[in-house]
Amino acid sequence: MREVALDYGYREIRTPIFEKTELFTRSVGEQSDIVTKEMYTFIDKSREKQSLTLRPEGTAPVVRAFVEHGLQGAGPCQKFFYMGPMFRYERPQSGRYRQFHQFGAEAIGISSPEQDVELIDLLYQIYKRLGLKNLNVMINSIGNSIARATYKERLCAFLQPHVEKLSEESKIRLRDNPLRILDSKSLEDQKLLQEAPELLNCLDEQSATYFTKVQELLTDLEIPFTINKKLVRGLDYYNQTVFEITSSELGAQNTIGAGGRYDGLIKTLGGSDLPSVGFATGIERVIQVMEGQGAYLPKSTVPKLFIASMGTEQYCFKLLFALRRGGIAAEMLMKQSKFKQQLNFANSCKATYLIVIGENEMQSGKAALKKMEDGEIVKEIVLAKIVEEMKSDGI
Ligand code: HAM
Repeated sequence: MREVALDYGYREIRTPIFEKTELFTRSVGEQSDIVTKEMYTFIDKSREKQSLTLRPEGTAPVVRAFVEHGLQGAGPCQKFFYMGPMFRYERPQSGRYRQFHQFGAEAIGISSPEQDVELIDLLYQIYKRLGLKNLNVMINSIGNSIARATYKERLCAFLQPHVEKLSEESKIRLRDNPLRILDSKSLEDQKLLQEAPELLNCLDEQSATYFTKVQELLTDLEIPFTINKKLVRGLDYYNQTVFEITSSELGAQNTIGAGGRYDGLIKTLGGSDLPSVGFATGIERVIQVMEGQGAYLPKSTVPKLFIASMGTEQYCFKLLFALRRGGIAAEMLMKQSKFKQQLNFANSCKATYLIVIGENEMQSGKAALKKMEDGEIVKEIVLAKIVEEMKSDGI
């Protein structure tokens, strides 16, 4: 992920794990699920009794840092990526955790279909590099605030006569955040929504042209996509282009990555009026899809050589560190132990080769290099040259 983001001109930014609570209420939105139900909020020990919150997402912290450190003047477009833990008090289930990790990217300063498509492409190429298949890229435009206000009125007028049929959650949303009803998982709600007016029909001409251009550019880059007219996203800061990438590999929580444009946020948080667009992807969900599809996952490093000592601990200890200094992953049990115990440890750390060093080997300066797998002797090695021997061909 880092490599691809760096190739696309994004620089890494690291923000604190917690921020002032109001940062999230002001950006993600008072009525959003995150703010109403999911934040880990606590009062710190200051005299002012500050309210702090473990970050539920990375966009608001990046914007806060951008404004606070006066990065506005540093160029027409600033591109950042980040990676780290996020916290949401949600009902834990497959693909949904209370502490999870996101990789995200944000481009601040430019409002253009090209910039939006760069972000979608970055996310898509990251997935491709990781070997993910059967992805579904969904896009939508939620227009500017005027279009959304017009649409909200039309949607409310349409739903009002059917309010009794709505799910409990949607009844509340009808009052507080009607657009989110489009996101409802309730089948009854979805049935009702089939006849509902469409947000795309409320777009002003400029937003509509902009959205058409986004589609053309995605086609130019051969990114397959579908338009999902019900895609509105659960965070309040979005406008114009929004997108989500899903995988059938995941169950109900099938969104691997998502994002969109959030042009008003920097101004809301005290900065200049700069447009921005970004995305975040859940790292646990990416791994889940990779595992499900049998994509290549790097194995954790295992020791190449395990040294078992038969009363020659100090000699083995020196040998072990000579190997490590020579760049060879090596291991031994740091305590005088029975051979069986040492072998158990060698097995548990999945070492590839084994040498056993007793009085004889120490005297002769030679030992048999064996495969852990079947005990087969590979060759006899000269202990004084162990690093070179372990780097030689075929080992
Ligand atoms: P989000 O849709 O809330 O957007 O989260 C983005 C991704 O984080 C999701 O698609 C999912 O993969 C992962 N995710 C979210 N919640 C959980 C959870 N509880 N457990 C595991 N994974 C989870 C944002 O956070 C925006 N900040 C994205 C963005 C960046 N928009 C513009 N810039």
